[in-house]
Amino acid sequence: MRTLMMALVLLPQLAFADAPNPQIDRLWRGKCGSCHGADGKAQTEQAKKMAIHDMTIPDWQKANSDAQIKAAISGGVKRTQAGVAQEMEPYKDKLRPDQIDGLIAYIRGLKK
Ligand code: HEC
Repeated sequence: MRTLMMALVLLPQLAFADAPNPQIDRLWRGKCGSCHGADGKAQTEQAKKMAIHDMTIPDWQKANSDAQIKAAISGGVKRTQAGVAQEMEPYKDKLRPDQIDGLIAYIRGLKK
């Protein structure tokens, strides 16, 4: 009986182990998706205008360390690359550290 109870408690968690945290998913879609795309593939109007990278590509994932991703989310991006102005606001005062960490994990999960 106890084993059965344990299984009933644990099964849903196992089933969703690979699914993104729903709160972070909402955060990503609400605050980041307008530019990066809900799927991270940068197929939005904004992404095209600012030449945003497709985050699902393994080379992008490899080129960007967790520390770099964290720095970008916290401090924002403001640069001109190959004549294209790229701008993203800093989120360090808008998001909690655990939300930023959640977003890093979420971005890792976008990898193809
Ligand atoms: C107004 C559009 C916009 C929004 C909203 C936005 N970004 Fe960005 N983001 C950019 C641009 C532009 C770049 C630079 C282009 C690139 O690196 O692909 C960028 C780059 C990044 C990078 C890579 C950093 C680097 O140095 O290349 C990460 C990581 C990132 N954004 C995460 C996020 C997260 C997480 C959110 C939501 C909290 C978010 N972005 C919201 C526009 C945006």
